[in-house]
Amino acid sequence: MKIRELCCVSSREHEGSSCPSRSSTSSIHEYPWEIFTLKELLHATNHFHNNNKIGEGGFGAVYWGRTTAGGEIAVKRLKTMTSKAEMEFAVEVEVLGRVRHKNLLGLRGYYAGGNERLIVYDYMPNRSLAGNLHGRIGQEAPLNWRQRVRIALGSAAGIAYLHHEANPHIIHRDIKASNVLLDATFRPRVADFGFAKLIPDGVSHLTTRVKGTLGYLAPEYAMWGKVSESCDVYSFGILLLELVAGRRPIEKLPGGVKRDIVQWAMPFAERGRWEEIADPKLGGKVDAVQLRNVVIVALKCTDGCPENRPAMREVVGMLRAGLGARRKKEMAAVAEGEEEEEEEEEAMGVKEEKKKKVREEEEEEEEDPMMLSTADEHSAHYCIRENRSMIMR
Ligand SMILES: Nc1ncnc2c1ncn2[C@@H]1O[C@H](COP(=O)(O)OP(=O)(O)OP(=O)(O)O)[C@@H](O)[C@H]1O
Ligand SMILES: [Mg+2]
Repeated sequence: MKIRELCCVSSREHEGSSCPSRSSTSSIHEYPWEIFTLKELLHATNHFHNNNKIGEGGFGAVYWGRTTAGGEIAVKRLKTMTSKAEMEFAVEVEVLGRVRHKNLLGLRGYYAGGNERLIVYDYMPNRSLAGNLHGRIGQEAPLNWRQRVRIALGSAAGIAYLHHEANPHIIHRDIKASNVLLDATFRPRVADFGFAKLIPDGVSHLTTRVKGTLGYLAPEYAMWGKVSESCDVYSFGILLLELVAGRRPIEKLPGGVKRDIVQWAMPFAERGRWEEIADPKLGGKVDAVQLRNVVIVALKCTDGCPENRPAMREVVGMLRAGLGARRKKEMAAVAEGEEEEEEEEEAMGVKEEKKKKVREEEEEEEEDPMMLSTADEHSAHYCIRENRSMIMR
């Protein structure tokens, strides 16, 4: 079978139509792939014209395009030097392409032929969370509190799905604000999951893009390359702080000293001065209870000891619980988001028992909202940063 026959796309406008040259690794019943030729992708992106370029990451450039059917797409053109053999690449992309969740940016299709490795996604009109927090748009029309809470919950649900539900389970390895994209309704879609599988073993993405990613790296990953789900949890904790504070994960202080966002937030958290952690661009329009909860969850996630960090499923539960039972009414505007999360939990098999547990946890947190897990420093080989049990007593 020629690899060219593996270049497919499943597009909304084409859903349900048949695929004459379907690859052997996909099934029409499970996943409607449709042929997408190189010619069509070249046409859609105006031959990868610079004007169509949306951005550039560690794996290559991303181009906006329009299909002949009129749909908007984003095409990631991988740097060929790091691409896997065509067949290996095709198989892995198809595995990733089967991962479907409303908070994940699924792959629509790809092309693998000659030196080209192209991955096709739906275009996300509100672009990345990074742009919305730190870019010009973030200054002109900052995300409001409700949008931020929805983004926190949704992206947590997407990552939890990768860790606990996807088959095989997927560790993202590159959770960061530029990999959280926002659709037309600002629903978050976590992108670029499983990308580590698309580049050959031994070729480090980090070597090409240390700067943008460094602030999100779990210490045990940065220092010893130890990868696990809890590395994603750490990165998500950083993302949460970034989301509520509107600050970058690492900042340079006068004199060149670098400070990460946890070091910045910790003194405020220790003194219970939560409101000082909130993004000034919110103008004080913040739910104080929710803010405190999100920060506490973020600090749990960024514990120096990986074994003290919660699982992503627990993170989802804590974030949901932290909406505050009494505040459910006030959250009418994010009702859609909450419903989604409930559906998510159903889909994740959480159901009643879990909900009961969450309610109990919520009550516990009401009594002692500052309680954080105590680290056993000696049991943790990979503990680097101080644990969080010292704070906020
Ligand atoms: N589907 C998409 N819709 C809209 N914009 C996108 C889409 N995919 C990527 N982008 C934009 O392109 C930019 C570059 O994305 P890319 O994934 O290549 O780099 P990155 O996220 O900064 O780093 P990394 O390579 O680690 O993922 C993103 O910041 C985002 O703004
Ligand atoms: Mg990306």
